[in-house]
Amino acid sequence: MRSYIIKGGNPLTGHVKIGGSKNASLAVLSAAMALDGPCIIDNLPDITDLSVLLQIFSDIGATVEYLEPGKVRLDATTINTHEVLHDRVTQIRGSYYLMGALLGRFGKVALRMPGGCDFGVRPIDLHLKGFEALGAKTEMSYGIVSCEAEELTGGGVFLDTVSVGATVNIMLAAVKAKGKTVIDNAAREPHIVDVANFLNAMGADIRGAGTDVIRINGRPTLPANKEYTVIPDQIEAGTYMILAPLTGGDITVEGVIPKHMEPLSAKLVEMGVEVEEGDDTIRCYMKEGSSLQAASFKTMPYPGFPTDLQPQATVLLCVAEGTGRMIENVWENRFQYVDALRLMGANIITSGRLAVVQGNSHLTGSQVTARDLRAGAALVMAGLAARGTTKVLDIERVERGYEYFVEKLTRLGARIERFESE
Ligand code: EPZ
Repeated sequence: MRSYIIKGGNPLTGHVKIGGSKNASLAVLSAAMALDGPCIIDNLPDITDLSVLLQIFSDIGATVEYLEPGKVRLDATTINTHEVLHDRVTQIRGSYYLMGALLGRFGKVALRMPGGCDFGVRPIDLHLKGFEALGAKTEMSYGIVSCEAEELTGGGVFLDTVSVGATVNIMLAAVKAKGKTVIDNAAREPHIVDVANFLNAMGADIRGAGTDVIRINGRPTLPANKEYTVIPDQIEAGTYMILAPLTGGDITVEGVIPKHMEPLSAKLVEMGVEVEEGDDTIRCYMKEGSSLQAASFKTMPYPGFPTDLQPQATVLLCVAEGTGRMIENVWENRFQYVDALRLMGANIITSGRLAVVQGNSHLTGSQVTARDLRAGAALVMAGLAARGTTKVLDIERVERGYEYFVEKLTRLGARIERFESE
């Protein structure tokens, strides 16, 4: 078991380079499994979710070459099975993209149900609805999802709920289907646009990504043979942006796309934070003599406030002046970390999808456990802001999605150490 020991209370200041997007990388790497030639993908973050997914690719016969840190060459033409039943599949959520990729490649797929963060039911009914709209028969039994189609043909699907995963997975299955597919009420996240841009660079014909209607004209083959660079991680960037006002510091995130950060930047400005945007940088700090004010947040699909920054923003509300509110509209049980924050002195009342946060809390160190990726990051952040020492257990969950977390925080002035224990 791995843990962090954090001595909190000092302002974090400096510059931090943001890595490639975890959620775009999982989707783009999986999209490469639908191609008819090799491709090179760059700016991949150094996180365990990706190493697990790349190992799964190798398990099914794909050729994976590590060219240099963050850069791989993939060739899906050597894949030798449509079955992905290894235990590894259950370690990450992103493995679900292999459903669409292999269904698009072979016309059939059998996949162990994926894993991922546990904050409520994580259904895949919309993914299957999309595959059925393309002519596939789907079945779920013994924890294995099976899909098969004589011939994938374009179709129309309306997503009852805006779903990132279903939008991407249907794209991956439709990109080589015969005819035209329309995905209505599609997710609009930056990583959806990134996957569409990647596939179009490899010969696909996808239009409308980033809007709620995506149109895909199936192509018989996707020759690939190109290089592609993944977008920066908006959630990693947001985590460091929030750390500046949280610790009374001054942080500039580098290598970001400011447009992707607007949902957070706007809320930070509303709370009284100075947010200065450059071409690919954003600086966050509190002006001398100003004070952080509470605000009301509600998580929504992009371009709303991202659910993956909900725990981090809730920690910020703990130290703001006044009473803040957080409404979690995407996941039904994403406040599990609040108990740990209470141990650290936070004053939060939760009821269903609502958390009411009394500000002006003087957080103090404690021993807490990371229950999922973003909640774990939020507890690290609380430890950095708290007086005294905090020990965060099970930080493997945090390192699924934050590359070089200790190194980057240390360079900003954090007193944090990583420990391995039996
Ligand atoms: C992706 O999960 C992200 N994971 C999550 O990030 C993120 O929280 C989520 O999108 C929302 O932005 C990856 O990209 C690997 P959804 P996903 O399908 O695709 C319901 C992180 O921290 N739904 O957009 O699983 C679902 O229950 C992780 O990086 C159905 O009802 O999320 C939820 O209420 C955590 N049926 C809503 O849609 C379905 O078939 C949004 O889920 C699929 C989803």
